[in-house]
Amino acid sequence: MKGGVIAIDGPSASGKSTTARAVAESLGFAHLDSGALYRGVTLVALREAARRGRAHESPLAVVGPETILRAAEDRGLMLQPDGAGFAAYLEGEPVDTEIRGPRVTGCVSAVSAVPVVREWINSRLRAMVRAGRDVVVDGRDIGTVVFPDADLKVFLTASPAARAGRRITQRGVDADAARLEAEAAALAARDHADSSRVVAPLRPAEDAVLLDTTTLAFAEQVRRIVDLARPVFGRN
Ligand code: DC
Repeated sequence: MKGGVIAIDGPSASGKSTTARAVAESLGFAHLDSGALYRGVTLVALREAARRGRAHESPLAVVGPETILRAAEDRGLMLQPDGAGFAAYLEGEPVDTEIRGPRVTGCVSAVSAVPVVREWINSRLRAMVRAGRDVVVDGRDIGTVVFPDADLKVFLTASPAARAGRRITQRGVDADAARLEAEAAALAARDHADSSRVVAPLRPAEDAVLLDTTTLAFAEQVRRIVDLARPVFGRN
């Protein structure tokens, strides 16, 4: 039996993952972070490059995508149910911290632009939903490509300055002018890479509800999505 799906897409640091998790908790759904799989495959690629003694090169210059995906399967890259969400595992170890570190973040856009990587990840995501749980899935192409018949689609946006400020605050440091400028530039570069790629570019689905969170408090943006979802799933 297929579970219900809420798709939440949007650019980097638009608050997708934290929002998706809070929406899932409020509705009793599971939160599935598709970015964690892209990051997991990127970590596999980096480890394969390191095994070949070429840790400091771009991993795609060292190992081809087919080899990376075979390694992902052989080395047990997976998202395992964990409370209201899923935790990433590789080689039997939890890797949630490592996949969000700077090495993976610096390479993930390139890895996620490879079509066979996207197909592999999409089929994993669809299989997890076929397993029957109701899920909130966040990513870049969830409403457009992965689950075009999702029950509810939301596209989150926020100004680059607001997104840069949130990212810096998450790290627990002061959002001073120099940091804000550097972070906004890094986000703009990733936005550009994610929206201009040929395969599954970042864009809102035609039937997505657009939600600009620049001036919304976190609780308010969660409440708006939960309010959109309740009638769709018959839970008032
Ligand atoms: O949401 P995130 O920052 O964890 O995503 C990491 C990268 O993965 C990001 O650069 C874009 C890519 N990604 C994607 O292309 N498609 C998705 N559905 C999710 C993430």
